[in-house]
Amino acid sequence: MGKGVTKKRLGKKSRIIALVGVVGLVLGGWCASRWDVWFDNPDEAAYTPSNVPTRVLLTFGNENGLTRNVSWTAGKTVQKAFVELFDRDDSLMSRVDAVGEVFESRSGQAAYYVARLRDMKAGHAYRYRVCTGNQYSAWYAFHLPTEEEGHTSFLYMGDIQDSIGGMANQLLRKALHHHPDAEFLVCGGDLTERPTDAYWGETFESLDSVGQAMPVLTVTGNHDYLKGVICQLERRFSLIHSYFLDSMIGENQVFTVCYQDVQMFCLDGNREFFYLATQRKWLREQMSKSQAKWKIVVIHHPLYSIRGSMNNIIQRWMFDGLIREQGVDLVLQGHEHAYARMTAHDDDGKAATPIYTISHCSPKNYRIEFDERFDKFGSGSRYYQTVRTHADTLFLAAYDAFTHSLYDSLLIVKREDMARVIDLGQDIPERIHFTPNLNNRKDVAFAQRIEAYKKKSKSKKFQ
Ligand SMILES: [Fe+2]
Repeated sequence: MGKGVTKKRLGKKSRIIALVGVVGLVLGGWCASRWDVWFDNPDEAAYTPSNVPTRVLLTFGNENGLTRNVSWTAGKTVQKAFVELFDRDDSLMSRVDAVGEVFESRSGQAAYYVARLRDMKAGHAYRYRVCTGNQYSAWYAFHLPTEEEGHTSFLYMGDIQDSIGGMANQLLRKALHHHPDAEFLVCGGDLTERPTDAYWGETFESLDSVGQAMPVLTVTGNHDYLKGVICQLERRFSLIHSYFLDSMIGENQVFTVCYQDVQMFCLDGNREFFYLATQRKWLREQMSKSQAKWKIVVIHHPLYSIRGSMNNIIQRWMFDGLIREQGVDLVLQGHEHAYARMTAHDDDGKAATPIYTISHCSPKNYRIEFDERFDKFGSGSRYYQTVRTHADTLFLAAYDAFTHSLYDSLLIVKREDMARVIDLGQDIPERIHFTPNLNNRKDVAFAQRIEAYKKKSKSKKFQ
């Protein structure tokens, strides 16, 4: 009897040990397969910054829609630096001193400068150049909106993260050629492939001639961070996108700006739970005092994912209720390297705000899932969006970045705080283009999902 009980106990113990061992092995295998994704940062090659000012970037300032910051880099040590600013309308020149700071990355160091341009006049055109020591940059020009304009027009690109020698600059310039009324550029994070000097160089290639002439507004993406158990954002990011220097809350890269009748709210969706809670508090405070007619949130990680229903669930839990409660009109997102648009619905099932869009303009396309809550998908190309507001109407349009053909569009018409959504994009055929590698089971499964989606969506047209 005693021996039988002991044998049984030993048997049970062995099974538990075996089970723990199997679970350990499976977990270990999974961790090993994900190790690079979670923890591997690409090496940064050694670099020496030019003594001539380079990487000049114009951004919004922190006080209001008529302030601007200019950031740049020059040399390895901080010297006297300033911006020469000409008001082209009355030929007045002012000199705005810059604040310099040395940032040491993993493989080199460079001095970064920020000049805060204030006291400028609505409707005026300016030209400027930056100077460090006795070295000057080229001349650049920008203009400020007039106070009476009452409308806004900007261009949005989700992830760009171009490969070295990529074609983002060509696509961006052509997009602006087709939409010359765009007053600023908004990016949905992952503007830079990885935080190394070489990729930052590529980012400035992507923004060449654009990022010096119109304000660039971006949020953080996961590729902007150094990977680790707790991800780290280098200070280089904030020294370049310098509005964050004055607006971040602790380590949270949050920012808001009012431009005409629009207020943009930028969130740092890449962070861990307790950081997101701080951002939610900030967002509630900012939105509760907002007088803007149109509220637009920009966040890298989509609150409703097209890569898995449980993806980004913490971000959704943190922000979505507040976004709906505060009457946000648009949520511009990136990260998932496809195009998708989702419209909220009211209690009667009518289309309502907010509108959630996912977009990208990068060389990489990801395999997506076709969540029924979304109105429209696109895959196999690059995209950009335009947002225009005038009086009681916001017009959102998405374009294929190669052909500049209209891919999606809708209107939000707002009267007495009641928003009506008019879907103009449902009759534009969807393009879900993908060539699977037949030896890759994830590719094959995605190809099957595409076919199933097309079969199921009988009322839709496909290109
Ligand atoms: Fe991303």
